[in-house]
Amino acid sequence: MAFLVFEGIDGAGKSGAIEALREALVQRGRKVLCLREPGSTPLGERVRAILLDPALGQLTAWTEACLFNAARAELVSRVIRPALAAGEDVLLDRWWYSTLAYQGAAGGADVEALRSLSKAATGGLEPERVILLDLPAETAFARIARAKDRMEEKGLAFLSRAREGFLAEARRDPARFRVVDASLPLAEVRDRVLAEAL
Ligand code: TYD
Repeated sequence: MAFLVFEGIDGAGKSGAIEALREALVQRGRKVLCLREPGSTPLGERVRAILLDPALGQLTAWTEACLFNAARAELVSRVIRPALAAGEDVLLDRWWYSTLAYQGAAGGADVEALRSLSKAATGGLEPERVILLDLPAETAFARIARAKDRMEEKGLAFLSRAREGFLAEARRDPARFRVVDASLPLAEVRDRVLAEAL
């Protein structure tokens, strides 16, 4: 069994990469569970609707961090741990590095305090590998030019700080992180993700 996490700013192409890896693992006879944060539990989907609702306007970075971690705690104990115990592979779209990057590096909350909160909420569970899909914020922003949700409305400078936050985490834990250039053509990104993850 393996627990793999995908990270990256909005527009990095995480969902396509996860789907490609899921197919490759299923072909190898693995049982694969794909999950997303926030979400993938009844509470998580409700928290997601709150967090993405543009009608709520500004929330403090700590309000957001607590909500993301509430959803995460549910997901870990009710879904991820049982799946791993049953021998399944778990592919997760975002993990607490997103909290460090978005609410911390970009949103101004203390990154080490967020790390402690997130580790406590997840009981110290660690993924074997983190695939960071990295690309310039400008490229990502152009890709999400459609109607933006509440998180995406925060703008280019915010996204750029979030990117730096992710890269800082990758430098901090090079054994766990694999950084893939997500500005490359999609097929190339997919091949590199498969090479790093399998
Ligand atoms: P989502 O639509 O899932 O974005 P994406 O498809 O790019 O993953 O929305 C999740 C949003 O929430 C996204 O803008 C990133 C943000 N987020 C945080 O700010 N902190 C977190 O801890 C997590 C998990 C997500």
